[in-house]
Amino acid sequence: MPEILDGRKISQDIKSEVASAVETLRLKIGIRPRLHVLLVGNNPASEVYVKSKTKTANDLGISSQTARLPETSSQEQVVAIINRWNDDGEVHGILVQLPLPAHLHTDTILERILPTKDVDGLHPLNLGLLAAGRPRFIPCTPYGVWELLKRTGHSPTGKQVVILGRSNLVGKPLALLLSLKAPDCDATVTLCHSQTPDLRGMAGRADILISAIGKPEFVTSDMVKPGAVVIDVGIHRRNDGNLVGDVAFESVAPIASAITPVPGGVGPMTIAMLMQNTVQAATST
Ligand code: GUN
Repeated sequence: MPEILDGRKISQDIKSEVASAVETLRLKIGIRPRLHVLLVGNNPASEVYVKSKTKTANDLGISSQTARLPETSSQEQVVAIINRWNDDGEVHGILVQLPLPAHLHTDTILERILPTKDVDGLHPLNLGLLAAGRPRFIPCTPYGVWELLKRTGHSPTGKQVVILGRSNLVGKPLALLLSLKAPDCDATVTLCHSQTPDLRGMAGRADILISAIGKPEFVTSDMVKPGAVVIDVGIHRRNDGNLVGDVAFESVAPIASAITPVPGGVGPMTIAMLMQNTVQAATST
C-alpha cells in the first residue's frame, strides 16, 4: 500500500512553528497578529471552514474575528467592511470567504483588499508577484500542497507535475508556484482543464498528479502512472453522507507510491498556511 500523506500531522508541525513565531512577535515587538474574516450568506461548507479558521487562529495566539453579512448584502456593504479593515492598523490579515453570493462581484471585492493584508494571496498584485517569480503571499491551498510535498520528501524539482483544474484559487497559482525557478519548485507543469484533449492520457504521464477539478471521484486508476504521487484537493459530500475527494481513493491508492486522504490531506494544510501568511503579514508591518 502507498504512503499516506498525513496533512493533519504535517499541519500540526506548521501550526507549532506558527505558535512559536507568534510568541516571538509578542515578546520582541509586542504585536499580536490579527486576522479578520468576512462571511457573506449561509453556505454550510463556508460556515465550517470559517469556524475552523478562527478557532485555529485563536488556538495559536492569533486574534481573529468574523464579520457576517446576510446573503442579500450589496457590493457597497461588503466593500465598506473591507475599507474599514484596510484602514485599521491593528488588523494584519483580511480574508473574504469564497464563494460569494452570485450577485456580488468577487474580483472587484478581492481587489479592494489592501495587498499587504491579503493573506489569501488572491489579489491580482499578489498573483502577479507570484507569476513574476517574486511571491509575497502565496494562496493558502497551493502553499499547503507545496509544503505537504516538501515535508514528506516529495520535492517537485525536476518532476512532471500534472494539475487538473485551472481555478484562480488553486490550479492556476499552483502551476505558477511549482514552475518557479526556485528550490523545491522547478517542476515541469501541465495545467489541464475542461478543454484539454486526452486529459486522461495527460494525467497518466504525471510523476505528481494533483487534482483540483471539483468532481467527486473523477480520477480513476487508469489515469494514474504506477508509482505516482497523488494529491487530492477536492472534498465532496456524497448522498450517503460520506466525504470523498476528486480521486477514487480505493482504486487509485494501490498503484500510487503516495496519496493524500480526504479528509485529512490538503484541507488542514490550507488552514495552517493561512496562519503562516497571517504571521507574515503581522511581521512585515
Ligand atoms: N473557499 C474555499 N477555499 C478558500 C480559500 O482558500 N480562501 C477563501 N477565501 N475562500 C475559500
